[in-house]
Amino acid sequence: MGESRVLSRAEALQLEPGWRHACHVLLCAPCPGRLRGRVPLRHAVLMQMRFDGLLGFPGGFVEPRDGSLEAGLSRELREELGPGAAALSLAEGDYLGARCAETPRRLVAHFYAKRLSLEQLRALENGAPRAEEHGLEVLGLVRVPLHTLRDGVRGLPTFLSNRFAGCAREQLLEALRVLRLVPEAELRRADAASRK
Ligand code: APR
Ligand code: MG
Ligand code: MG
Repeated sequence: MGESRVLSRAEALQLEPGWRHACHVLLCAPCPGRLRGRVPLRHAVLMQMRFDGLLGFPGGFVEPRDGSLEAGLSRELREELGPGAAALSLAEGDYLGARCAETPRRLVAHFYAKRLSLEQLRALENGAPRAEEHGLEVLGLVRVPLHTLRDGVRGLPTFLSNRFAGCAREQLLEALRVLRLVPEAELRRADAASRK
């Protein structure tokens, strides 16, 4: 995905048929643990290592037969996360926003977020190896480190210096800010440190 631009759900749905639509979701849960008994973990946020070596969010292309964005997302989540994803029941209310890009091909990326309990999130992680795409499109789920260690580099900044699918990096930063999972000043520092 080249340079992307933000647009509303209504604008995105009015684009010509030549545009493909994809839906992805950030799943998170409060996580009270502390790393080495000291560094607060705050939240568990799920991403995945993909077949192409990039990090991304669970989800994928919406097909005409799906009937709606949310139905397409639910199908992709069952394929990528396993039958446990059926209980997630994502709806329009979980919608965070859309981005579109002309290159490498016309794509609208719709993005959702859902807050779960830690038990629900752990159940998904445990069931994920039974998903039909496990070992194929999805090589494994990862939790995003939200903390920054004392050197100012390890943790979230280093995670952000990985390569991401489509606009997943922008989507991650936006969601962490909007859902208040990481304080804004800390996010800005992590983003800047990851680019050095
Ligand atoms: N996370 C992942 N991909 C994203 C994201 C995101 N947050 N935002 C945008 N994308 C882009 C990807 O770059 C990709 O081009 O959305 C597109 C579709 O998303 P995928 O999750 O890759 O689609 P999916 O339907 O799950 O399957 C991918 O398509 O390219 C083929 O053969 C390939 O089997 C693979 C399938
Ligand atoms: Mg898929
Ligand atoms: Mg996918």
